[in-house]
Amino acid sequence: MKIAVFASGTGSNFQAIIDAVSAGELAVEIGLLVCDKQEAKAIERAANHGIPTFVFSPKSYPSKEAFETDILEQLKAHSIDWIFLAGYMRLIGNVLLGSYTGRIVNIHPSLLPSFPGKDAIGQALQAGVKLTGVTIHYVDEGMDTGPVIAQEAVRIDESDTRESLQRKIQATEHRLYIQTIGNLLTGARA
Ligand code: GRF
Repeated sequence: MKIAVFASGTGSNFQAIIDAVSAGELAVEIGLLVCDKQEAKAIERAANHGIPTFVFSPKSYPSKEAFETDILEQLKAHSIDWIFLAGYMRLIGNVLLGSYTGRIVNIHPSLLPSFPGKDAIGQALQAGVKLTGVTIHYVDEGMDTGPVIAQEAVRIDESDTRESLQRKIQATEHRLYIQTIGNLLTGARA
């Protein structure tokens, strides 16, 4: 199985996937990083591990269809089977949804359907909830709306700051994403 990871930023989830593959814990090949930000740290992580990267500038295209058509060409050229979003800050459009139906997955730092969209951790703190968490879901045309694959709760303690909560959520994300990718791709092979 060959996967592509889409990221726009730091790429700590991308790194967790790289590390799990290197450690032999995840039997997949990371065939491509797709990135829409020239300065993203994820690009450096890919370079450190010899992972091919397609970096594009959305503004230089007339439409989402146009840049997704270029992405699709890259995915095909690298024989990518599944797409895993890891902090990719754009909605996926019809070109990719049509070609990778049921094979695009996202991770989100809340228990969806609570707190979709940007800054889910800040939204949870603002709402004063005692439990938040991590959701992994199939991607559809909406924002963080596709069918849920896996969820895990993270407790918000009185003493938590934004930083400490973020650390707990990240640790959960890294573990749950690896486990879920493994489960999904084993299922896909059966
Ligand atoms: C993660 O919290 C993920 O759930 C969300 O974006 C963040 C990406 O973090 N979709 P990183 O770039 O993987 O560190």
